[in-house]
Amino acid sequence: MSFHRLPLSLLLLLLLLLLALLPPSYSQVCQRFCGDIPLRYPFGGGPGCGDPRFTKYVSCNQRQLIFTTHTGSYVVTNIDYPNAIIYILDPTMSTCLCAQPSKGFSLDWDAPFSFDDSSVFALLDCSLDSSPIYKGAVGGNTSNVPQCANSGTALCSSLYTCQPISQLDVPISTCCVYVPVDLGPAFEMDLEKLQCKAYTAVYSFEGDPEAWKYGVALKYKFNVKNDYPQYCGNCEKSNGACAYTGIYNSFVCNCPSGVNTTTDCYFQASWNHGSMSKACKKISSIPFPQRIVVTPWGERDG
Ligand SMILES: *[C@@H]1O[C@H](CO)[C@@H](O)[C@H](O)[C@H]1NC(C)=O
Ligand SMILES: *[C@@H]1O[C@H](CO)[C@@H](O)[C@H](O)[C@H]1NC(C)=O
Repeated sequence: MSFHRLPLSLLLLLLLLLLALLPPSYSQVCQRFCGDIPLRYPFGGGPGCGDPRFTKYVSCNQRQLIFTTHTGSYVVTNIDYPNAIIYILDPTMSTCLCAQPSKGFSLDWDAPFSFDDSSVFALLDCSLDSSPIYKGAVGGNTSNVPQCANSGTALCSSLYTCQPISQLDVPISTCCVYVPVDLGPAFEMDLEKLQCKAYTAVYSFEGDPEAWKYGVALKYKFNVKNDYPQYCGNCEKSNGACAYTGIYNSFVCNCPSGVNTTTDCYFQASWNHGSMSKACKKISSIPFPQRIVVTPWGERDG
C-alpha cells in the first residue's frame, strides 16, 4: 500500500502515535541551530539555554539570530567559534550598494563583547564645520572623540568609487576612518553627537568595494582565557546543548529528548532500553498496525 492512499483517519492516527512517542511536554529542548547558524556555548538561542550572561544580547527570533544593544537590534550573520568572534550586520549602515542615514552603533558597557581588530568604521558625511572629529572635543572633553586614521584615505577613496556613496555628493574630506581597537567595550559611536550622517563598517576590505565584507566583527568573552568548558564540549559532542539554569546557574546538558543530565547525552541509548518500565515494554511489543492509541478525546482505536 502506498502512503498517499492511506485513509485520512489512519494518517491522523499515525500523527497521534508520533505525538505520543515524542518526549513528554514538560521538557524544553534547546535549539541546536538558529536558521543556518549552529548554536553552541555560550549561545543558546533563548532563556534557559546557553550561558545566561549572553541570553539578553543574543537570541533566536523566528530563525534569525539577533544581537541587541541599547542602540538597536542587529542580525548575526556568522559565529566563528574557534576564534570567539561574532559577525553582525546593522540594517541602517551604508555599503557600496546603498547609502542611508543612520544613528550609529554602540555596545553596552557591561556586555561581554568588544570590537575585534578586524573591525573598521568609516564615518560618512561628517560636518566639517561642527563635527567634534574635526573640532576636537565633545563637551570640552577630547578623550571620547574618535581619531580619524591617517591611513583611512585609501579606504575612503575606494568607498567613493561606489555609486550610492559618491551620489551623497559630499566631499571626500568628510569621510573619517577609524579602527576602534583600543576603545574597549564602552565604545560609543553616536553619529548625532559626532555630526555624521551615515557610516559603514567592514571587517575585510581587499579589492573591489562591492565585494568587501560589510558588518561588525565582535569578540566575545565567557571567561578570562575563553577556555571552553570541558563538560560543555562533552555535552555538545553527544548532541546535547550546554545550558546553565536555576538560581545557582548550574550546568545541565539538555539532550535532544528533552531530558537534562549533569554530564552528557550518551546515556540515552541505555536509558531507552535499560530502564524502560514494564508498561512501556508492553506497549512497544505490540505489533505496529494493531497498536492501541488513546487519543486526547479518550477514544480507543486499533
Ligand atoms: C531542562 O533544561 C532546560 C534548559 O535549561 C530547561 O528549560 C528545562 O526546564 C529543563 N527540564 C527539566 C525537566 O528540568
Ligand atoms: C572625558 O571622557 C572620558 C570618556 O568618556 C571620561 O572617562 C572622562 O571622565 C571625561 N573627562 C571629563 C573631564 O569629563
